Amino acid sequence: MHRSQQCHQRYHDKISTATSSSNQQYGDTIGSMITAPIRAIEFFSGIGAFSSACKRFNVEIIAAYDQGQDANRVYELNSGLAPSSRNLDTIGAAEIPDADIWWLSPPCTPYTVRGLQHDDDDNRALSLKNLIQLLSDKLPPVVFVENVIAFERSRMFSHLTEHLRKLDYKVTLEKLCPTDFGVPMKRPRIFITATREPFTVNRSQLNIEIQPMSLAAFVNSSNTGPRLPDAVLSKHGEGMHIVKPTQEGAYAICFTSGYAKTFRASGSFIEEELGVRRFSPDEILSLLGFPSEFQFPIDMDMEARWRLVGNSVDVRSICRLIHSVEANGKWVELLPE
Ligand SMILES: C[S@@+](CC[C@H](N)C(=O)[O-])C[C@H]1O[C@@H](n2cnc3c(N)ncnc32)[C@H](O)[C@@H]1O
Repeated sequence: MHRSQQCHQRYHDKISTATSSSNQQYGDTIGSMITAPIRAIEFFSGIGAFSSACKRFNVEIIAAYDQGQDANRVYELNSGLAPSSRNLDTIGAAEIPDADIWWLSPPCTPYTVRGLQHDDDDNRALSLKNLIQLLSDKLPPVVFVENVIAFERSRMFSHLTEHLRKLDYKVTLEKLCPTDFGVPMKRPRIFITATREPFTVNRSQLNIEIQPMSLAAFVNSSNTGPRLPDAVLSKHGEGMHIVKPTQEGAYAICFTSGYAKTFRASGSFIEEELGVRRFSPDEILSLLGFPSEFQFPIDMDMEARWRLVGNSVDVRSICRLIHSVEANGKWVELLPE
C-alpha cells in the first residue's frame, strides 16, 4: 500500500507500524518497510500519550520517567510499564538505557505568560537542560521534543537546537494542532524531530485527507454529572468559553492542567439542557485521540484526572511524527490488527 493511502486510515483507525533499531541491519525488510521493533524512552511520560501512539506502531517503550505519582499510576495501568519517578534534573547517562528514540514533553510553564516566562532560568527547565547535556553521551538517533508554540521563541529552544546540530542531528520543526486532523479542539503545539543517520524525516507522502468532525461526536450526551452553579456563571460566565456541541462549527479550546479549578482560559465548557458543565476527562481523552479503552484507576478523583489530561499531548500528532521517520528510505509498516 502506498504511504499516502495509509494516511487517512492512520489517524482515525487503529494502526501498527514498525521501524528498525539504528544499529541493526536494514536489509531484512518487507518491500519498503522496516519490521524490527525500535526501542524508545518516554521522558516526562505523564499518562503516556507517546506510549499510546507507539501501540499503533512496532515501537517498544523500554523506559519511562515522571515524578508524578498519579501520572505513573495511570501510565502503568494502561501500558503495563511502571515509569521511574527519578528526578530528571539530576539523572545521569549511566542510569538511562540505550534506545533508538527519545520522546520528551517537558514542562511548558517556563515559556508561557502564565508561567512568567523565566525560560532557561526557571527551575522547572532544569530537567530539560540536563537531558540536553546527556544527548552528547547517549546520542539516540531520533529525538522528539514537544512543547507550546511560545517555546520556539525561547533561549532554551536555541540552546536545544544548537546543541542538536553540533551533534550532527538534522533538526526539523512541525506545528500541529488537533484541528489539522479534523478534530474540533484548538491545542497548537510545536514538535521538534531531530534525526541522525541512518534516520531521516520524510513528510512528502503524509498528506492527510481531513474530514472535519463535529464536537458532538466527542461528547457524551447522557452525561448527568454536576452542573456549574448559577453564582459561578454570573461571576465568570463572560470570560468562559461555553459551547453547544451540536452547533455547527463548535470547537473546544485548549484544556490545561488547571481546568478543574479555573474558569477562564483553561478549557471549554458544555452548555446542555441540564445546564453548563465541564468536559469530562474521558471526553478530553477522546479529543486528544486516546483509544476508548484507556482508563484511570477507579479510585482516582476527578480533579487529578483533569490535571493529568490537561498536561497531555495529542496522540494523532505523535502518530504523524513517528510515521515521518525513515531509515534508508524504508518507512514504518501498517500491520494488520
Ligand atoms: C507536560 S507534562 C507531559 C505529559 C505527558 N507527555 C503525557 O502524555 O501525559 C510534563 C510531565 O513532566 C513531569 N516532570 C516535570 N518535571 C520533572 C522532573 N524534574 N523529573 C521527572 N518528571 C518531571 C511532570 O510530572 C509531568 O507529568
